[in-house]
Amino acid sequence: MSNLQGPILVFDSGVGGLSVVAHLRAVMPGRSLTFLCDNAALPYGTKEDTWLIERIVSVCCAGARASGAGVLVVACNTASTLALDALRAALPIPVVGTVPAIKPAAAMSRNGVIGLLATSGTVRRRYTDRLIARFAAEQRVVRVAADALVRQAEQWLAGSPTDPYVIERSLEPLFADAELDTVVLGCTHFPLLRPFFETLAPRPMQWIDSGAAIARRTVTVAPQGRMITEGSDASFATAPAEPGMIHALKRYEFSAPQGIEPLRSEELQSELLNSEQPQ
Ligand code: DGL
Repeated sequence: MSNLQGPILVFDSGVGGLSVVAHLRAVMPGRSLTFLCDNAALPYGTKEDTWLIERIVSVCCAGARASGAGVLVVACNTASTLALDALRAALPIPVVGTVPAIKPAAAMSRNGVIGLLATSGTVRRRYTDRLIARFAAEQRVVRVAADALVRQAEQWLAGSPTDPYVIERSLEPLFADAELDTVVLGCTHFPLLRPFFETLAPRPMQWIDSGAAIARRTVTVAPQGRMITEGSDASFATAPAEPGMIHALKRYEFSAPQGIEPLRSEELQSELLNSEQPQ
């Protein structure tokens, strides 16, 4: 399974990971990607941690096996802030995570007041506490859980109308703080809605996400690899028949997804044992 020439597997609970795909395609044109979407379990942000770790590992192991991936990019803050260690222990390939861009935001905020817009899972994680303590100890960080925006981004990418009222309500705590000038988009779904955020903002604000940094990191981990020779990139989904997701994947040059089942725990155990054997 450890084959750096294989495709880069980009994983998210939904179509938010496509915001990272756009950056990967910009820095590695023609590089073969495979998208893996656990849309049967969307949203991750409101789910319980222990269940989520097992789910994420079993879906990613199934995806890595089915795609022959050389690298896994976890294009999901909710998954990365919880399950990166478990994924690295389970998979014999490099794993690149996506975590909130607190460090650049702290450097960019003029007033020293930053908003963290993320899922409720990401907002309350210890990983997030540590990021803030390490990189924004001198700043004030306003944490805003905005799970409702995940569905709005899914709808937007599916070509369906969004609800301006839901978007505006979600952003209100950020706009209400007069000193806040920089917002970390700590969920990969949110950069997809950035044009709406900019339009609704009562004053100019800086909106920062991790997509470009993740793409640069992925290049260093997988400097070369398989290129797309013809057609579209492949994709896998746990609920493959969902029309909105098929539409969104097509917009990012992926073919319609093949169905994938999370590995059962017995299969996962034997996968883990095999990955520990010398290659
Ligand atoms: N896209 C995911 C993230 O970056 C979250 C979406 C969800 O709640 O499933 O956090």
